[in-house]
Amino acid sequence: MHLLNHLLWTLSAAAITTTAALAAPSHLWATHYNGNVYTLTLSGDAFSVTDTRKTCGDLPSWLTFDSHTRTLYCSDESGTSDPSTHGSLTAYHAAADGVLHELATTETIGGGVNSVIYEGDNRKKFIAIAHYEGSAVSTFALPLHDNASTQQAFHFHMKHPGAVSQQDAPHPHEVFLDPTGTFLISPDLGMDVLHVYAINSATGHLSSCPSVKIQFGSGPRHGVFWTDGTGKEPWWVSAGDGDAQRHMWAPVGKTMMYLVNEIGGTMMVFDVAYSRSGCISFYKKQTLVPYTNGEMPEGATPAEIREIGNAFYVSIRSDGGFPGKNDSMVMLDRSPRSGLVSLRNKTPAHGKVPRTFAINRAGDLVAIGNQASATVAIVRRDRESGILGEQVAILQVGEPGKVGTTEGLSSVIWDE
Ligand SMILES: *[C@@H]1O[C@H](CO)[C@@H](O)[C@H](O)[C@H]1NC(C)=O
Ligand SMILES: *[C@@H]1O[C@H](CO)[C@@H](O)[C@H](O)[C@H]1NC(C)=O
Repeated sequence: MHLLNHLLWTLSAAAITTTAALAAPSHLWATHYNGNVYTLTLSGDAFSVTDTRKTCGDLPSWLTFDSHTRTLYCSDESGTSDPSTHGSLTAYHAAADGVLHELATTETIGGGVNSVIYEGDNRKKFIAIAHYEGSAVSTFALPLHDNASTQQAFHFHMKHPGAVSQQDAPHPHEVFLDPTGTFLISPDLGMDVLHVYAINSATGHLSSCPSVKIQFGSGPRHGVFWTDGTGKEPWWVSAGDGDAQRHMWAPVGKTMMYLVNEIGGTMMVFDVAYSRSGCISFYKKQTLVPYTNGEMPEGATPAEIREIGNAFYVSIRSDGGFPGKNDSMVMLDRSPRSGLVSLRNKTPAHGKVPRTFAINRAGDLVAIGNQASATVAIVRRDRESGILGEQVAILQVGEPGKVGTTEGLSSVIWDE
């Protein structure tokens, strides 16, 4: 009797384990410069395109997902800084199976790439967009409506060109938030600066803080903050706009920022300080080349940076570091004591030009978007060591593109 019970228990436990292993499939979305947004479905090692949508203008470039409302935003990189041209922003509701239903679309300043959602009082949300060719940062109030107007636009100008031809004009490449959600940072590849804004939580307006100069010829592209995650506390600052004091947030504990520079091929580490002036300041602690032997191969450029805890990852485009000229993913360890990083290892991107990659929430899988190959490779990530392991699945998503053009797979994210 006891034996039978035990046997039944063992069997049902095994059944539960099997069910868990066969858990609901994961979905991802990818944009391609061919004018499509794709829904991808990953079930174990079975990986396929389950929806293809002609949308997001001529050059779908980047995706940002609001998982609370299941709203996906796509920026279209069409257009330049010439105001007679434009890009677009499109919002979709994402069904449980990852299929997208368009909610609204509007024209934007040209050259929209990365975007970020930020929150004001009463859970009011806004989205900011970095416009690479448009030399601007713009914002919209959410939810997005058809033909909505830009809420705010910051247009940048340069007196002198930068170190290389790519620095002919300001080129904001990303917009990202500090860990308290109070500041927005935009690395500008053309100007060699970080634009810094304080978010007014009542209106969603951005006010300019002093920008941060990055070494000439660096070409800052993407950054991530690191925080020890001990929360945030109210922070009263003197306000320049009439109010004697303004309420903001400051982190409890330590905050740092890690930046990759496309042109200089370097990574920089900053200490971050919250000041009574109502802005944040960055103090550079380290500059290194995130590559073996501290030297970036000729023509190779760092692209995306992500972190989990003290494990940092940088994708390297066109280093051809693996057989078949496959490019590399570099892992760096952050010293918990100093906050400085050092190279751990280099693993294959399983394709060419890994423009974007995304770690899933569980931290056990990484989706690598190889632009020129137009593939999404899923690789295992060891949650203990942080090391990237074998390829679980790989999928061709649209046609390959030529290296160094606006062709191929432009971005990939997880539906979570
Ligand atoms: C948005 O603009 C387009 C083109 O001008 C127009 O056809 C459409 O009716 C507008 N939609 C709304 C909701 O105003
Ligand atoms: C490059 O990566 C792809 C994807 O994993 C693989 O199919 C191909 O064999 C690799 N090339 C070589 C020469 O190993």
